[in-house]
Amino acid sequence: MASKSSTNPETSLAAKILARKRELNAVILAHNYQRAEVQDIADFVGDSLGLSQQAAKTKADPILFCGVDFMAETAAILCPGKTVLIPDENAGCPMANMMTVRELREKKAEYPDAVVVTYVNSSAAVKAESDICCTSANAVKVVESIPRDKRIIFTPDQSLGDYVASRTGRKLILWPGYCPTHHRILADDIAKAKAAYPGAKVVVHPECTSDVIALADHVASTSGILKYARESTVAEFIIGTEIGILHRLKKENPGKNFHPASRLADCPNMKLNTLEKMLWSLEDGAYRVTVPEDVRVRALKTIERMLAIA
Ligand code: 13P
Ligand code: SF4
Repeated sequence: MASKSSTNPETSLAAKILARKRELNAVILAHNYQRAEVQDIADFVGDSLGLSQQAAKTKADPILFCGVDFMAETAAILCPGKTVLIPDENAGCPMANMMTVRELREKKAEYPDAVVVTYVNSSAAVKAESDICCTSANAVKVVESIPRDKRIIFTPDQSLGDYVASRTGRKLILWPGYCPTHHRILADDIAKAKAAYPGAKVVVHPECTSDVIALADHVASTSGILKYARESTVAEFIIGTEIGILHRLKKENPGKNFHPASRLADCPNMKLNTLEKMLWSLEDGAYRVTVPEDVRVRALKTIERMLAIA
């Protein structure tokens, strides 16, 4: 009789991926929103900041990056000479696509003395045109590091920018970008969940709208949400972010309950990566993520400035 593992396609796929990974000396990095089975096979699962730190320090090559394109691009910027692969070349971030270099140059011409702080959810070319990068884990710190007499253009996430402005008391020039997935979470969803689970803590991502953030007990990056849940003495949580994070929350906290604020907060781009595509990617060396060297060098400066602060 065939063993249970050989009849389970997911398990045998996982075994093939692991074997191929060892053969190549590859590392698998996965974002906290990836499918459960993708997270489970990764060497490191984390938020944008943690993943870029892992990419910067890994000795493995290639890096199989299970996330969206700007994350894999960040790894390519940090690791010149290494092969960075993404399982699905269409895994992009709509927010990152809400600004172009030309538009940023126009904005900079309007405010020539302003410092440009760009969220990591942006293209390499936009990062190269910016002064400093940030992630949701360090955006407040990055803005606080800029002298108070300096004007700041904050791109591309208006919601994160709004949140940072409220935390720092700084007036920021905001870009009208947003995350369509996080904007599906409504204040009404939070109100309903609070009524259903009155003892629960509301924890949300700063890409949510300001009226959702106003109802939260805690606002953090995806890894910040995981840390809060782990360390909290409370056992019930309403989670206002992309629902892929529920896998890790439940796995790491078996005695606690997690309720998504909205089941609609499901990022289709993050879910494009699958085990099958991961295996093809390792077998075929596709899809390789590259950044033109002149852009890479300028984008690297903005990321390094951020990493120095983080
Ligand atoms: P984190 O950096 O908090 O993981 O967020 C990335 C992202 O794309 C959120 O939508
Ligand atoms: Fe982009 Fe939003 Fe998806 Fe994150 S959840 S990758 S910001 S669309």
